Amino acid sequence: MGIIRIGHININAIDIEVAKKYYTKVMDMRITHEDEDGKVYLKCWDEWDKYSVILTPNDKAGMNNIAYKVAKDSDLDDLKTKLKNYGVDVREKMEGDIPFCGRALEFNLPSGHEMILYAQKEFIGKDVGVTNPEPWPDGLTGVGAHWLDHALLMCELNPEAGINKVAENTKLCEEVFDMKLAEQVMVGPNGDVQLATWLSAGNTPHDIAFVGGPEMGLHHFAFFLDDWADILKAADVLSKNDVKVDVTPQRHGITRGNTIYFFDPSGNRNETFAGLGYLVQPDMPTVTWTEDKLWKGIFYHTNQPVESFTNVYT
Ligand SMILES: [Fe+2]
Repeated sequence: MGIIRIGHININAIDIEVAKKYYTKVMDMRITHEDEDGKVYLKCWDEWDKYSVILTPNDKAGMNNIAYKVAKDSDLDDLKTKLKNYGVDVREKMEGDIPFCGRALEFNLPSGHEMILYAQKEFIGKDVGVTNPEPWPDGLTGVGAHWLDHALLMCELNPEAGINKVAENTKLCEEVFDMKLAEQVMVGPNGDVQLATWLSAGNTPHDIAFVGGPEMGLHHFAFFLDDWADILKAADVLSKNDVKVDVTPQRHGITRGNTIYFFDPSGNRNETFAGLGYLVQPDMPTVTWTEDKLWKGIFYHTNQPVESFTNVYT
């Protein structure tokens, strides 16, 4: 079965106390552990594993690594073999090397991003439990993020130099991880340059996405909300808390999701993403967006470029 979902993301926090306040009060995550070296581990109320975000004190924003959970321990053996056969240098981690996780595989995607695969993480449980649960817990003060949903990674793209790390990452995810290419943006004079891709490990429109740019980085990571009403309320919460908003509530053409983009206090872009526009099935044909409809795909209502959205990332 292999990869089942995004497990956690390790990001930098310039001021750890400010970041803690933001992720707890505004995003409604709760702190489940703090390391002696200052790292902070947080989970959303609708998640059951120990954490989905690690805040690492640093003097600049950005992502340190991204982790995906696989269904069972033996998947790690299968994936290690597949990655090695694919030519990927895999570093094996012992139980506990990744805090509160079992053994793991660490490697770099062709784009350079560090990725971790693990099968086990300490279980805490949803805040509403599993016996006659209420639909949401008491005490939410912010957007009420359900769970870490996906991330979008910026990958080096320079067609003139023959460099397309979007295409390389995508090929690896399809061939090694059996991910489904749900949507893609094709550009260039012949429409044959893969500018962006959205890949699904299950049946949601994407678990990871890649977009081409001048250099690698983190574009955003997203938290799931139920619906459009929650997106509107989230925008109110962001404004109440003077959060720097990048893009106000919108619908994506690509994935059909409802969205807001904004920045955490360190400058890492966050998204609240609502709605399952469609279910991905193994035989679903890949959706392709052409260069002339690129911005309609990204922001369906405005259909206009947003310069910061493509130029600003960590
Ligand atoms: Fe997203």
